[in-house]
Amino acid sequence: MIKIAPSILSADFSNLGRDVTKVKEAEWIHVDVMDGHFVPNITIGPFIVKALRKITDKFLDVHLMIENPEKYVESFAEAGADLITVHAEACKNLEGLIELIRKNNCKAGVSIKPKTGVKDIESVLDKVDLVIVMTVEPGFGGQKFMPEVVPKIRELKSLVNKRNLPLEIEVDGGVNRDNCSEIAEAGADVLVAGSAIFGSENPANELREIRERADKALNKNSK
Ligand code: DX5
Ligand code: ZN
Repeated sequence: MIKIAPSILSADFSNLGRDVTKVKEAEWIHVDVMDGHFVPNITIGPFIVKALRKITDKFLDVHLMIENPEKYVESFAEAGADLITVHAEACKNLEGLIELIRKNNCKAGVSIKPKTGVKDIESVLDKVDLVIVMTVEPGFGGQKFMPEVVPKIRELKSLVNKRNLPLEIEVDGGVNRDNCSEIAEAGADVLVAGSAIFGSENPANELREIRERADKALNKNSK
């Protein structure tokens, strides 16, 4: 079964507690951290992760879109992150950073922007729990899905299968009910959806619809 990770970036921050209860059926909660340097936007820090940790037991999937991520791993881990993902493009020593995340008792992920190739992270694929394949340029919620990235999801999936790698593939950016089947079929294990879920009138229904369509595509694939 596919996992759904609603991105709270599109939630109502004046009602964050209420919005998190609207996505009870989600496996993960995706937290987009932006610093105004790696990406042009500034969002949230460990403080919000700590607040989220108080109101939910869900797996907190923290996506760091920041420069010098090594400076902040400990704070996010202490705040209650379950998984911390860093951007390959922001790391001088990716392997060292993955080790640091593990030392802080979190699962470790690596994320790649649309133009970064699987080749650029090949050397760490046996060391991470998650790869985020970005299907928009990181920085903002509500952008249009880039279909040209789908072959990269397939490429990564075939590598995972060939090498029997114990990592999950998360697809992040512009995911909605119309493209989730194609993304699941290409090899995604986890779908991030921000505006599609929190921007809809009924987030719980939207989440269910995305899951049903994605799972249907997966089942068709395995037959
Ligand atoms: C983009 C973020 C995404 C994004 C998802 O920089 O990493 O997680 O907020 O939001 P939607 O689903 O609206 O593209
Ligand atoms: Zn994200």
